[in-house]
Amino acid sequence: MDLWTLSDLSTPWCIHVVATLRIARHVDGGITEIGQLAAAAGADPDALHRVLSHLVSRGVFEEPTPGRFALNDLARQFLDSPTLLSLDLDSFGGRMAYAWSTLLSAVRTGKPAYHEVFGRPYWENLDAHPNLAAAFDELMGPAGHGVPDPQILPDPADWPSIHTVVDVGGGTGTLLAEILRAQPHVRGTLVDLPRTVARSAPIFQKAGVSDRATVIGQSFFDPLPAGCDLYVLKNVLGDWPDTECTAILKRCAGGARPHGRVITFASSRPDPELLMLILVGGKARTPDDFRPIAESAGLRIHATAPHSSGRLLIEFRPL
Ligand SMILES: C[S@@+](CC[C@H](N)C(=O)[O-])C[C@H]1O[C@@H](n2cnc3c(N)ncnc32)[C@H](O)[C@@H]1O
Repeated sequence: MDLWTLSDLSTPWCIHVVATLRIARHVDGGITEIGQLAAAAGADPDALHRVLSHLVSRGVFEEPTPGRFALNDLARQFLDSPTLLSLDLDSFGGRMAYAWSTLLSAVRTGKPAYHEVFGRPYWENLDAHPNLAAAFDELMGPAGHGVPDPQILPDPADWPSIHTVVDVGGGTGTLLAEILRAQPHVRGTLVDLPRTVARSAPIFQKAGVSDRATVIGQSFFDPLPAGCDLYVLKNVLGDWPDTECTAILKRCAGGARPHGRVITFASSRPDPELLMLILVGGKARTPDDFRPIAESAGLRIHATAPHSSGRLLIEFRPL
């Protein structure tokens, strides 16, 4: 291995381009000859041929006869919808690839430079483009990240004592719907931005839990519904630098006081998580990283436990 090999961007970009052009779907549908593939994908035949030949040389796709392509195990992964969604350069997930060109600025300043490529900071860019915000919500939901495991208490024996759950920054409600389905005695409140909670109704309906779900479109930097038993933060705190992370935890502590609890997910070991740095200035945190932040938000770590996702559950209680 040398630095030239390590820094070669051709394979990742070819993968994104082929995903965006849905080449694997065309091949799977019987279009295998390069001219027909290029026509079906709206691409230049020679350029597409070169891209596919490069991928064949890296073990993605096969070229059994010159100019004809076939799927192999790696190329078949393009047929998986969530994978495709996160690679497609025209979709929200794939667009993130362009943000890597801002890494140098982020390293120089310690702050995200997403605006250098997209014109506005990450969250403001979503505010300004409803179609992108919808794609982001879709990526976070079942079609992108799948259906999460609702077992989110370090001690599952505690569920009978939990009657009200607030999913803070809960997106379109995928996790809350699963919690309500698994715990029929629980009522839930989904808190997220208005445009996002507006997309939650079909998810609660599909889970058959609409009668126990309330939605509130508001910022989690504003006071949260008070007096509930459990405040959940999944994939939220990692989106924010320490100051904002503390502010969100403070809002959860304010709602949970005096007897409620706050649950979030942490990394079990230090994780550089560069994408969070370049997109939003956030970071993955371990329980040790969370301890001082939680304390300044009025919380202490009560318990930690592994979650089926591979991350750690952390349960905070008010100080
Ligand atoms: C990475 S997503 C996680 C969504 C969901 N918890 C999950 O795990 O799929 C972060 C969520 O935070 C929401 N969000 C961002 N800024 C917010 C704010 N100021 N107030 C409330 N929600 C916000 C976004 O709309 C998004 O749904």
